[in-house]
Amino acid sequence: MHSHKRPRISSGLAVLLGAALWFAGCTRDNVSAGGDGAAGGDEPAGTPATTSEHASEPDADLLKMVAALPRAMPQALRDRVQAEPERFRALVEAVLDQPEEFTWLVDKQHALPSDYEPDDLVSLSDYPALVINRSDLRLRSLVIDPLLQMTAAAAREGITLDISSTYRSYDYQAALFQRNVDSLGREQAERESARAGTSQHQLGTTVDFGSITPAFAATAASGWLAENAWRFGFSLSYPDGYEAITGYMYESWHYRYVGLPATELERAFFGGIQQWMLLFLHTLLSAERP
Ligand code: DAL
Ligand code: ZN
Repeated sequence: MHSHKRPRISSGLAVLLGAALWFAGCTRDNVSAGGDGAAGGDEPAGTPATTSEHASEPDADLLKMVAALPRAMPQALRDRVQAEPERFRALVEAVLDQPEEFTWLVDKQHALPSDYEPDDLVSLSDYPALVINRSDLRLRSLVIDPLLQMTAAAAREGITLDISSTYRSYDYQAALFQRNVDSLGREQAERESARAGTSQHQLGTTVDFGSITPAFAATAASGWLAENAWRFGFSLSYPDGYEAITGYMYESWHYRYVGLPATELERAFFGGIQQWMLLFLHTLLSAERP
């Protein structure tokens, strides 16, 4: 397994752009991030920068990170990076120290190879503490401990997290997407089902809980997950109101394990929007490749 390479100064243009964004932002007053509708983004905006953070000039690595922030992201979120640049840098570096697949961008524009299959898939049937809705569910072994911990934490509060879908191979996803096209029509299927190669389920780190229907949003389990899943490194992939950004309708049941540093980064600097964080990391790392 490979880790991300640490960003190095390899693109003068990116650094210059970062500098431009940085200094443009510095002349602007911080804007409140309140009311951006971001699921899970519950940290107060506009945290004042510490003297030490503003005292030193941002270095090239930090400027590269700033340059990689998604253009579509609201200014209020960019301002958070400016307010706490060293916390931002530390979280990004912690994310880059994780297995890189945890935060691979997999969406309608970024597909996995058809033969991509994690080599450490394990059967959830081997873990009696997990509540499973079918016997053939598998996940990457790295995800089992956090899932067990999350299941136990929920159970302590009287919440059952039942698991309904996990790893899906390319071929399985192809058949599932076709079934959805047949039953819903292509246009609607595209809003709620991924084409083969573009499903996060192929990563072996994604879990669908409960009924896998919009009704799940009204359950206690959904509420508990929305509030607590991040503490175990699980992130809601398709939040309510972000179809234009994620490409998918609200899926209250679909959580991807991205690791705790990533859920902290997502909440603190990306408004709780996984897609923005993954786009950022993708852009940052693409800039490193020749
Ligand atoms: N329902 C999600 C988008 C998937 O098919 O992976
Ligand atoms: Zn799903």
